[in-house]
Amino acid sequence: MSSIFENLVVFEGLDGAGTTTQMQLLAEKCDKELRACRATFEPTDKPIGRLVRAVLKKQIVTTPLALAMLYAADREDHLYNPIYGMVNEMEEGKLVILDRYIYSSLAYQGVECPIEKVRELNQFPAPRHLFFIDTPVDECIRRIASRGGNSELFDRHDFLEKVKSNYEQLFSDLPEEVRFYRLDGMKSKEEIALEIQKILFTE
Ligand code: TYD
Repeated sequence: MSSIFENLVVFEGLDGAGTTTQMQLLAEKCDKELRACRATFEPTDKPIGRLVRAVLKKQIVTTPLALAMLYAADREDHLYNPIYGMVNEMEEGKLVILDRYIYSSLAYQGVECPIEKVRELNQFPAPRHLFFIDTPVDECIRRIASRGGNSELFDRHDFLEKVKSNYEQLFSDLPEEVRFYRLDGMKSKEEIALEIQKILFTE
């Protein structure tokens, strides 16, 4: 049996799928109901996460493997940092709501790096709940374009098709302790949020 974080909820999806919105809506719901939570995201806004974003913005040039290592280092820090690590909060009983986790590394870095290598770098416990916001690639591209000004490395159609196929592959082989839910990303954000709340709070 692989280890699991009982108090971790993860959102995954392609760029533009709506993971950040759902992370925020779930945190608002928890706040309203006085459930202790922390909403957070990867890459982080901490020093290693900022390095990742500098690579995505092409301010720093490196290799795909070095980038995969940076994502993994950012994750290690995000989980276990003695000051702001998510594990501290999970242990206090807080629900940690996370926008992207190991599945992003496997799906995105898996396009350009050997998947075994990416797996090796990401030996972190799985979340109890994993939500995949399934939004078609064309719709994601449309949303990214409508936001404007976002020219990060990964906003390309063919690339996102490959990422999507990697996601599908890895979701077909998840550890059985992970409760995996696929949500229709074409529904309204409110409808998706209600589905998530129903799953987490009434099941
Ligand atoms: P994110 O901050 O979610 O995107 P945005 O800035 O649009 O909100 O993530 C930035 C990019 O990093 C996104 O294209 C997904 C990618 N990514 C990886 O390739 N591997 C990872 O491990 C993670 C966490 C993100």
